[in-house]
Amino acid sequence: MAKKFKVVVTRRIPEAGLQLLKKAGFEVKVSPYNRILTRPELKKFVKGADAILSLLTDKIDGEILDAAGPQLKIVANYAVGYDNFKIDDFKTRKIYATNTPGVLTETVAEHTIGLLFAIAQRIVEADEFVRQNKFRGWEPMLFLGTDIRNKTLGIVGLGRIGGEVAKRMRDGFGLKIIYFDAMRNKSLEKQLGIQYTPFKSLLKQSDFISIHVPLTLKTKHMFTLKEFRMMKPTAYIINTSRGAVIKEEDLAKALKAKIIAGAALDVYEFEPKITPDLLKLPNTVLLPHIASASIETRSKMAEMAAKNIISVLRGKKPINPIF
Ligand code: DGY
Repeated sequence: MAKKFKVVVTRRIPEAGLQLLKKAGFEVKVSPYNRILTRPELKKFVKGADAILSLLTDKIDGEILDAAGPQLKIVANYAVGYDNFKIDDFKTRKIYATNTPGVLTETVAEHTIGLLFAIAQRIVEADEFVRQNKFRGWEPMLFLGTDIRNKTLGIVGLGRIGGEVAKRMRDGFGLKIIYFDAMRNKSLEKQLGIQYTPFKSLLKQSDFISIHVPLTLKTKHMFTLKEFRMMKPTAYIINTSRGAVIKEEDLAKALKAKIIAGAALDVYEFEPKITPDLLKLPNTVLLPHIASASIETRSKMAEMAAKNIISVLRGKKPINPIF
């Protein structure tokens, strides 16, 4: 009898993906711990795997690939971002790496907009106030926020998600949209009716800045105190991409000193650690990296990762190769 391929899944994911893998006839082993695996645990867990279904919290490099063994063919990341993969190590070992592009675009865009509204209209702060039993009746000056329509939204990174945020905010809420991207996309500019703006100028003009770049050596610390000082003191920053695009310590300083008005974050530089000052400030909305966390989208991500594994273990090319 032919050997059953072994697929290891580093943490429980929606059933839809696991079912696909099981139906394909593979031996599927899901991590028994409902937490991020430590490095030694991960090394032990992947041993003997033909495929690994990893999370963005698993750092996958040569050491882990070698710990799996020479039979390893693919690592499918359960995320669109793959800054947790050391791509050169995959290339030298000829192991496929895949991600989950497309399926989470709209969910993350919707979530980004939710964060923008939450920070601009002080929704979380006001909710907390009510829960603390502090509401004593309508007040003329209670929780004054800022309007959203007719303001300028600066999109940093006009990829799939940035484009969807731009479209919705322009068509749905009447904002002027400007964007910066290392690669200018003239046809999308035309299609969305938005304007390319050099980075410094975007910093100066925007009332809201929403970050949608992947984390690379070039985008790490794209926002430091220097950039915050160029922004309007009334501006807000929203980040649903990767935390390290912002130098978090500098963001806390900028918020404390009121160099900018507020920040709504789903991601952090040293996840799950958060710069303590951010937790104390009222002008922040802080979420636990959940921008893609709808039931529908997380199921689609699970299926997509599973389909990549099935394709490769059946001797075909992956559907969503990273390189
Ligand atoms: C991703 O996919 O990269 C998100 O951060 C999690 O869904």
